[in-house]
Amino acid sequence: MDDTLNTVKSILKKYNQKHLINFINELTETQKSNLLNQILNIDFDELLTLYDSFNNSDPNPTEEIEPLKYVDKASLTSNKIKQYYNSGIKAIKSGKIGVITLAGGQGSRLGFKGPKGTFCLELEPKISLFEILCNYIKYYSNNYKINIPWYIMTSTSNYFDTINFFEQNNFFNYNRNNIHFFTQENMPIIDINGKLVLSEIYKVHFASNGNGNVFRALKKANLITDMENRKLQWLFIGGVDNVLLNPLDPVFIGYTISSKNSVASKTLFKEDPNDISWIFARKNGKPSIADCENFTEQISSLTDKKGNYLYRETNMLAHLFSLNAIRKLSDIRLPYHRAFRKNAFVNEEGMKQVPDKPNIYKFEQFVFDAFSYFNNISLFRVKKEDEFSPIKDFNGPCNPEVAAQKYKELVLNKEKSHISK
Ligand code: UTP
Repeated sequence: MDDTLNTVKSILKKYNQKHLINFINELTETQKSNLLNQILNIDFDELLTLYDSFNNSDPNPTEEIEPLKYVDKASLTSNKIKQYYNSGIKAIKSGKIGVITLAGGQGSRLGFKGPKGTFCLELEPKISLFEILCNYIKYYSNNYKINIPWYIMTSTSNYFDTINFFEQNNFFNYNRNNIHFFTQENMPIIDINGKLVLSEIYKVHFASNGNGNVFRALKKANLITDMENRKLQWLFIGGVDNVLLNPLDPVFIGYTISSKNSVASKTLFKEDPNDISWIFARKNGKPSIADCENFTEQISSLTDKKGNYLYRETNMLAHLFSLNAIRKLSDIRLPYHRAFRKNAFVNEEGMKQVPDKPNIYKFEQFVFDAFSYFNNISLFRVKKEDEFSPIKDFNGPCNPEVAAQKYKELVLNKEKSHISK
């Protein structure tokens, strides 16, 4: 133990992080050994280089922006929609489609204790976000007597709670062999002075490293092999919190297959020209989602000759990736973004403190950064009022009450017509 402690001390000295073992003398032997092991496994070089890169990065990098083509579902003839629908159903029936749900987020804005997917809508009877997703999948699985695999990404901290929840609910009567849970990687969080933070006096504070870790995490869990064994061709990737998200929308699947690209995304139209964040665009020649700094209001009002806006498509976290695309991405390290978040920490006196405003940086990879590894992407604009009602917090527009109302109106009261459409 003394040798390990000395090694850790010299690492912490080198990286100016000695405070991480301030309380070492108050710990039990097990806590001490866990903390030292945790520290030995941190790649300080990578983390601190990343931290510095954000502090020193050029706030206005030169980027060439061009519009990306999209298809507006509302502009399609009923014959075209039927054609896409039939092709999508054919792909589902032949067992070519799987579903990946990103459920490793902290849900920090909602502040709900437990995995966000276990959050229930206040309906009669109550229904959880996981059950809502499972019902969409079961609808096609039961109708076409087909196994549809469901891959659920959790964080290391909500993995067991997620599995317990499924067990308590008998996997919502879905075939257990079709449900796979896997965990994503972690990164230590860091404060504004470049110091790592303790979550307990015996534990360095880690957080999941963003939903873009999904590709590498699938590979690590050997699930790409499972997809190959099942002869899947397409994987839908979506979030856990949008109650109107049908992961097996046949029209979207049919459209994607016909488009011949290996990546597709549903988009929503941004009504407000002043809201210029996260817009689909070709950045330096590659499909991307561009940051607001690259957009002026003037750009957001540009149209083509027919009057269609060029830069108003935004992300709703609903993508299709071919299995080949997923395989390729699983060997790529996506870039990190930095988010400023509210996280509890242990203060200098060893007391746990819960801040009332953001206090730490978190590094996250985003799924949408995967788009730039392909030459093209198929964008499919859908209507926000039909397909987008996520739960983000209790007070903003994306609150649980609105989501429950929308779910009742569009899914329950219409006898799942929304699902079958
Ligand atoms: P959000 O960025 O909205 O995060 O994630 P969140 O966890 O729901 O809420 P906040 O931001 O902490 O308040 C969009 C989707 O990506 C997943 C989330 O679970 C959600 O389905 N996600 C996010 C991950 O799977 N892993 C992550 O590391 C982050």
